[in-house]
Amino acid sequence: MKAGSRTVRILKKLFSLEVMAVQIYRTQVGAMVDAEERSIMVAAMENEDYHRQTLRALLKARGVAPSPGWPFFWLMGQTLGRTTSFFGRKTVLKSGIAFEDKASREYAGFIKEGDFTDQERAFLNEFLEDERRHSANWRGLLEGSDNE
Ligand SMILES: [Fe+2]
Ligand SMILES: [Fe+2]
Repeated sequence: MKAGSRTVRILKKLFSLEVMAVQIYRTQVGAMVDAEERSIMVAAMENEDYHRQTLRALLKARGVAPSPGWPFFWLMGQTLGRTTSFFGRKTVLKSGIAFEDKASREYAGFIKEGDFTDQERAFLNEFLEDERRHSANWRGLLEGSDNE
């Protein structure tokens, strides 16, 4: 039972983090300089929203609701996104790298820690790869090299 509740806590935490991620990118799109960069950021935002929706479904499948604190993460995402946007494209990209690297570390740690079903584990591994790709994309843009 302990292991189960720990696993649910992890899924709730990841859901809240993904709520924040969507709002960060939603509010940062305007800070990107050209159409290609904006479309990369919109794609990242949609990818985070897919993570958010999938985690919501995984929680539902376990019969639990998201943490009641999730609106705080929505607000944090909006605040972080707007603040970094105010400082411009470079700050947006640097904070994106930091945020995605942190997300990757959290996913990697949680994947080891939780007592997940095979399906849950498969999704979390997929999301971890997505977060690593997001980070690599921002690094690529920051270096002015071609993204991919
Ligand atoms: Fe994500
Ligand atoms: Fe991400």
